[in-house]
Parts: sequence; structure tokens; C-alpha cells
Amino acid sequence: MRCPLVAGNWKMNLTAAEGEALVEELLHIANELFDIDVVVCPPFLSIPKIADVCRRSRVKLGAQNCFWKESGAFTGQVSVRQLIEFRVDYCIVGHSETRGRFGTLEVPEGTTGFFAESEETINLKIKTLLYHGVTPILCVGETLAERGGGITDQVIKAQLEGALKGVDPSELFGLVVAYEPVWAIGTGETCDAAEAERVCAEIRRVLGDIGEPEIADNIRILYGGSVKAGNAKELFAQPNIDGGLVGGASLNAAEFFAIIKGA
Ligand code: PGA
Repeated sequence: MRCPLVAGNWKMNLTAAEGEALVEELLHIANELFDIDVVVCPPFLSIPKIADVCRRSRVKLGAQNCFWKESGAFTGQVSVRQLIEFRVDYCIVGHSETRGRFGTLEVPEGTTGFFAESEETINLKIKTLLYHGVTPILCVGETLAERGGGITDQVIKAQLEGALKGVDPSELFGLVVAYEPVWAIGTGETCDAAEAERVCAEIRRVLGDIGEPEIADNIRILYGGSVKAGNAKELFAQPNIDGGLVGGASLNAAEFFAIIKGA
């Protein structure tokens, strides 16, 4: 039996003080729920403050990204060793925005390469997180053009194989995968529940090939992309969807509560 998980990805939103106020509101409800994991992923700068609040509660702390080296001349990066000092339990890896793939492109097309995330960097991050006992939330998903071209499953299989290359199958127990169709992120367009279920079942099948089916059965697979209170229940009721990775709707306590209840 997989424990449902709902994670809020705040992205580059909320100051540390605003984030603290939001988590204080969340504590009341989250502390009453024992059969679900609730995670918040604030910006790096807010992590120390949010860590203090989370320590008093069942809400877990996640980061939005990490770097795979322990320390060194890597300007602007944050290592996993620095994250675990604040008891970060989860870390998002390979989000489409860090891959430079946006649902609604607001940066000039030619500059998206500057985000410089690749299957190799994602693989290094996954291995480093597992080594430190932090649960990676590995994001995979296709763009609208890839879906239109009929290569959704192919793209996702390649992303999973690239990210997990050389990872010992026994370590896959400590993994969460989020299916996030790029075209559904921040656009208000949700993948319909039946199609999201089909892709998540395919993700589980590929994970079974990479590791073993019994391991894949234990991996939590989330759906992400315009999850709201109004669609969460139907999405999370699907047999292969174990919760959600929520962006915009996680910035509002009442809306996020309603989504958590949907799981
Ligand atoms: P959204 O973002 O819920 O705002 O679409 C989801 C995500 O990017 O994780």
C-alpha cells in the first residue's frame, strides 16, 4: 500500500515571512492527517525559516533543486550536504522549468539552453540525493509538440532511463516520480484523468523494467500540472496516481488543504 503524497512546489514565489505564514496555516490541518505525506518545497532562501516551522509538525520539507558536488567553486549552486543541515527530506529533480522546457514560453526560445539541465545532470543529482538519504521527486513529461508527434511514451521512457542510469534497483524504493506534462504546467490545462492514469501506469511499467516490478509497485507516482481543488479528487482516485506535485494552487492554504483532502 503506497502512502499518498502531496507536494507544494512554490517555485520563485513568497518571501520567507510569507512562506512561514502559509505553513503555519497548513499545520492545523496537516497535523490531523496521518495517512498522507504533505511536503512543501520553498525557494532555497526560505528553507531555514520553514525548517523551523516544519520541525513542530508533520509537514515535510523539500527543495526545488540541488547540485551534485559536496562543495567547491560552483557559484549559485546549493549542495545536498547543505540541504540536509536543515532536514530537507525531499528534492525535486528535473522539473521541466529547470530543464528549460516551459508550458507557456516567456523566455526567448534560444535562451532556454542556459538552464543547462540534462539527463546526465539529473542522473548525478538523483545518485547524490539517494546517497544522502533524501527522496528525489523526479519529474518527467512531454511538451505539446511531443504529444502532438505521438512520442509521449518514448520521451518519458528516455527521461526515466537517463535519470536512473546506473542506480542500484534496490535504491529505487526511495524514489518518487512526478508525471508533469509540460503543456499542463501553469497553463490551467489539466491532462484528463484517464490519460494521466495511462501515462502513470506506463511509467510504473518502465520502472519495473529498470528495477523489478515489485519495486515499481512501491514507488509513488504523482501527477502535476494545473492540479486544483476541483480536479484533484478525480486525478488522485486513479490506481497509479499516488498524489500530486502542485504549483500555483499550493500558494493558497485553503486551496492546498482542499487538494490534500482530495488525496
Ligand atoms: P502548476 O505547477 O500546478 O502551477 O501547474 C506544477 C509544477 O510545475 O510542479
